[in-house]
Amino acid sequence: MKIIHVKNYEEMSQQAAKMVLDTIQQIEKPVLGLPTGSTPERLYELLVRAHQVDQVSFQHVSTFNLDEYVGLPADSNQSYHYFMNEHLFRHIDIPTNRVHIPNGLATDLEQECARYEGHLQRAGQIDLQVLGLGVNGHIGFNEPGTSFNKRTHIVELEDSTSEANARFFKSKEDVPKLAVTMGIETILEAKRILLLVQGKKKADILRKVVQGEVTENIPASILQRHEDVTILTDIEL
Ligand code: F6R
Repeated sequence: MKIIHVKNYEEMSQQAAKMVLDTIQQIEKPVLGLPTGSTPERLYELLVRAHQVDQVSFQHVSTFNLDEYVGLPADSNQSYHYFMNEHLFRHIDIPTNRVHIPNGLATDLEQECARYEGHLQRAGQIDLQVLGLGVNGHIGFNEPGTSFNKRTHIVELEDSTSEANARFFKSKEDVPKLAVTMGIETILEAKRILLLVQGKKKADILRKVVQGEVTENIPASILQRHEDVTILTDIEL
C-alpha cells in the first residue's frame, strides 16, 4: 500500500481529484467506482469545476456507486442517488446510461444484486475505485464480519454505522436498516484503489487497517492484499 500523508482535507481532495482526472484523461473508456459520504464531497466539487471551468468531458466515463440504502423513496434527499446527482452527476456531461447505482427500491433485491453484478461484468474492470472508510473499518457497506468472498449483496447496517450516518437524517431511527453494497470480492477486482481517510476520529481504525492483521472483523484490512492501493490521509501513522 502506498500511503501519502497530506496536510488537510483540501490537499487530500486535490490529490484525489488529480488521480481521478488523470484516469479519465488517460483511458479511452474509463470505469470509476465511487463512494458517497462526507469524505468525497470536496473531490466531487473539484471534478465539477474541472468540467465547468477546464472543459473536462465525462462523456466517455462509466461510474459504479458502491452502495445504496434499501427502501428510501425515489425523491428522498437522503438516498445515495440523490447525493450523487446533487454533488456530481447533474453538473457534468456524463450520459445517464453510464451511471450505475444499486436500486434500493427493487422489489426483488437478490435479483437487483445480480443485475448490478451483470452491469459490472459487462463494463469490464473498474479502473479506479475510490473508497471512504467507516469508523468501524467498513468499505462500501461491508460491515465487520462480512465475508471477504461476497459480491454485490444485501447488508444489515451496524448500529455504529446508523449512528455515524444519522447526521443526514432526522434521527438515528430514520436511517434505513438495510442497504445493497458491492462486496469485498467485487471491490478488490478494481485495477487501482484509492482510499481517502480524513480526521482524527478515524486514526485508530486506519492504524488497524494498515498495520494490523488482515481480518474480516476489519473489512478494509483486506486492502493490504491488493497490489495497487493508494491511501491519502491527514492522519499521522
Ligand atoms: C458510502 C460508503 C461508506 C463511506 C464511509 C465513510 O458510499 O461506501 O463506506 O465511505 O462510511 O463515510 P464518511 O465519508 O461520511 O465518513
